Amino acid sequence: MKGVILAGGLGTRLAPLTKITNKHLLPVYDRPMIYYPIQTLVDAGVKDLLIVTGGNNAGDFLRLLGNGTQFGLPRLNYAYQEGEGGIADALRLAEIFADGEPIVVMLGDNIIEKNIRRGVAAFRKQKRGARIFLKAVENPRAYGVAELKGDRIVSIEEKPAKPKSQYAVIGIYLYDNTVFDIIRTIKPSRRGELEITDVNNAYIRRGQMQYEILDGWWADAGASHQKLLETNLLIARQRGVKS
Ligand code: DAU
Repeated sequence: MKGVILAGGLGTRLAPLTKITNKHLLPVYDRPMIYYPIQTLVDAGVKDLLIVTGGNNAGDFLRLLGNGTQFGLPRLNYAYQEGEGGIADALRLAEIFADGEPIVVMLGDNIIEKNIRRGVAAFRKQKRGARIFLKAVENPRAYGVAELKGDRIVSIEEKPAKPKSQYAVIGIYLYDNTVFDIIRTIKPSRRGELEITDVNNAYIRRGQMQYEILDGWWADAGASHQKLLETNLLIARQRGVKS
């Protein structure tokens, strides 16, 4: 399975920190944010990785990560997203890289405590469709939110005013190779973006979406200054720092 990390976008919610660098290069305790999703995918057994970035500081990813030897990788692949057309617009750029294989996609500002090995193994058995990870949160309105019936997801709403559950869709998605056909069918949302939630709803309508509940904590480090601080503290504690 190939891996894709999405690290485009302008990161305006973290301004002015993101005025002179890319959000995913900001420090999270002792390393840049992008290191964490790379490590998560490497730990899940992914050896072939594409990083999609954008904006003015794209060259810095190459200087920072090079061929990915610090993660034990033989090389890294890069793609450049023009503008900020949304998560599914960034994912579109992975089609040639994926070359017909299934992919695991991770948002570059998502950081998790544990690993996704169980979900990846389940997806390998599943063979077709998609698999996502859910986590119960206190403020589901800030995320894509799953509506569940028994063990099925019946829909996902992006940042709903009245969430139908506590379960946020976290930024790790397992897709078969039809994901690129689905992206071609979706239209920009009201905020002018190709939404990953629309892609996931297309799999739900086909009856091909499965889910896992994520083990351990999940942080959307790029959501706000407060989230960035909280994530720094979570990682510091994980590394044994006493405050
Ligand atoms: O963090 C999980 C949430 O991520 C999900 O619950 C939502 O369903 C999903 O839409 C997304 O919501 P956000 O509003 O947090 O997405 P954000 O705009 O912060 O983008 C997340 C990452 O996606 C970002 O770190 C980089 C990448 N991205 C985003 C955009 C808009 C791109 O690569 N290109 C883009 O154009």
